[in-house]
Amino acid sequence: MPITYHEQKKLFSLAGENTEYIFALDYAGLIKHLYWGDKTSCLDDFDAGFTFEISSNDPSTELTPEEYSPWGGLRYKEPCIKTAFADGTRDLALVYKGHEISGAVVKINLADAHYPLSVTLCYRLIEDLDIIERWAEIANGGQEPVTLQSVASAEFNFKEEDLWQSNVFGHWISEQKMFRERLTPGKKVLESRRGGTGHNHSPYFILDNGADEDHGRVYFGVLAHTGNFKVTFEKTQYRTTRVVIGINDFDFSWQLKKKETFRTPSVFCGCTDKGFGDMSRRLSILALTSIMPENHRGAVRPVLYNSWEATLFNVTCQGQMELAEKAAGLGVELFVIDDGWFGQRHSDKAGLGDWYVNREKFPDGLKTLIEKVNGLAMDFGIWVELEMVNPDSDLYRKHPDWIYNFNNRTPSTSRNQLALNLCNPEVVAYLKGVMVSLLSDNNIAYVKWDVNRPISEPGALNLPIDDQESIWYRHTLAFYDIIETLRAQFPHVAFEACASGGGRIDYGCLMRFDQFWTSDNTDALDRLAIQEGYSYMFPAKAMRAWVTDCPNFIDKRSIPLRYRFHCAMMGSLGIGGNLNKWTGAEMEEAKAFVAQYKEIRNVVQEGLIYRISSIREGHAAVQYVLGGESVLFVFTRGEQFGRELFTITLKGLDPARRYTALIDGFPVEKSGDYFMKAGITLHLPGDYASKLVRITAKT
Ligand code: DGJ
Repeated sequence: MPITYHEQKKLFSLAGENTEYIFALDYAGLIKHLYWGDKTSCLDDFDAGFTFEISSNDPSTELTPEEYSPWGGLRYKEPCIKTAFADGTRDLALVYKGHEISGAVVKINLADAHYPLSVTLCYRLIEDLDIIERWAEIANGGQEPVTLQSVASAEFNFKEEDLWQSNVFGHWISEQKMFRERLTPGKKVLESRRGGTGHNHSPYFILDNGADEDHGRVYFGVLAHTGNFKVTFEKTQYRTTRVVIGINDFDFSWQLKKKETFRTPSVFCGCTDKGFGDMSRRLSILALTSIMPENHRGAVRPVLYNSWEATLFNVTCQGQMELAEKAAGLGVELFVIDDGWFGQRHSDKAGLGDWYVNREKFPDGLKTLIEKVNGLAMDFGIWVELEMVNPDSDLYRKHPDWIYNFNNRTPSTSRNQLALNLCNPEVVAYLKGVMVSLLSDNNIAYVKWDVNRPISEPGALNLPIDDQESIWYRHTLAFYDIIETLRAQFPHVAFEACASGGGRIDYGCLMRFDQFWTSDNTDALDRLAIQEGYSYMFPAKAMRAWVTDCPNFIDKRSIPLRYRFHCAMMGSLGIGGNLNKWTGAEMEEAKAFVAQYKEIRNVVQEGLIYRISSIREGHAAVQYVLGGESVLFVFTRGEQFGRELFTITLKGLDPARRYTALIDGFPVEKSGDYFMKAGITLHLPGDYASKLVRITAKT
């Protein structure tokens, strides 16, 4: 039985195919975490018992590994929930009231000992993936409002005192760079306070006790939330480790009115003893089978051309049509016009908010361009940045009060823009209206939704004073409401989440967008590291990757076209270079790569990823496997000291089957066992050398 309940012990077990998660009501009435690890056959031996205090300064509540610690009583650890009641009581005393088990879902009902406030801990087991979805529901059954001062999604307790945590760090053009560190005594916080998820860290935790790609215990949990998040790691005084993950409580509060329920974002968590690779593959299957928007989930991601780097704001109908012709000649299937098509948007100084077509650039609207693109057998896509406004725009001149700001403050501009107050229903209605017109009036198949600055001066003057600290989360909810409304009304349209590159890569967006723009950094060498970090938690199918021009606009580095294509072919292939400048030979080469990508893309987009070596170690080898098909990508920085051979032992093949690897055009036939033990040997001469090797099982 995947979910077992032991009545006498009030003990719950959620058992996946390989792992098990166990908790129970202890003698003190607390929901105590007991176990997370390999599946057991000794459930009867588990017992919540009682956690004894060490001293008057080390009380049992502080020591108990609770499933969801409230702030109240003798607790000094990072809480999951902190409340203030209308009469001034700031203490939450949760009492177990019962539970419900329905299919794969367990709900533990807790309520305050006095006030009519309930807290329900929810668990949904995804048995075949050994993943559990966790969230909490807080309901106010009383007449008076209750203030939620912090409300996390979940708490995790580990018996290990010596754990390592991995996450990404970076900034614009430097997203998703992986780091791994040993936790030290005290707290470690990874967070965003920007309103968006941001480029700095990602809302998840990965903990290991000495794992590598293929071996070792790894615990993970990824938060489905776009916005201010907080992950707190606590290496405790008591030789244990805690993690609390959820909405950031910094500058947060939520007035829970009578009869209202607050549902936290979900965390998808799991554990494996097969290293980081197994974690990534399980999450990727989860994303491909149940997280990504259902209506486009199974669809092949088209090869895209985006004209941003080619034209920037110098957009004209004629210029875009010329690029479209060239893109079509390469085999591109989706042509996307980026910034600059609307209002007085001739630079980043003006026009944001004015979502009508610039008639100087497009005299008869987008019709001519879209017809041209469709006539070339390509779909048409368009860029928007709905949540923002330039002060120099008709929208701002008409509605200067539609932005976030405080009284008596000058709002800070960034990239010459201000953030619209999405807590104001009029603003949301306006944004939905312009998008409904745009998508109804034009044959648009794809929307790239950008956001290019964090929120500041977070005041929403339409909200009451005691609701001001809710704006961060309300913004997220309004953003979700707009995208969900558009998806429901225009189910044929696919959406890409972009935030100055990869500032909105999270599971909240993965549930509502079909693609991520991974980074504005399109230098292929940097990109290998960015894509590697991305691959830990997110699927290749959602990763847009473009081939752009050299020298690269960021670092002036020149890298062969072949290497740039191979790098971008590891996700959803796009092209973002200025095709007017590509030589005939480059166009021919590009055409061949696009054709090759179409042959292998189902393996990349639907397959399982195996990271074999990292560009951080000098050369990268990444393999994708789908049934009997596999594709291996190998990259070096440059050969030194003569002929250097790389032997790469493959992964994920069936040892008993025979495969043919096509190496430099020559077929090499061996068993899966051979390729995974003896490997294949490759020579990659020169600077920035790369290879794509297809491995196919014999039928
Ligand atoms: C930032 C995005 O990341 C770019 O791809 C591009 O869309 C620009 N914004 C346009 O302003």
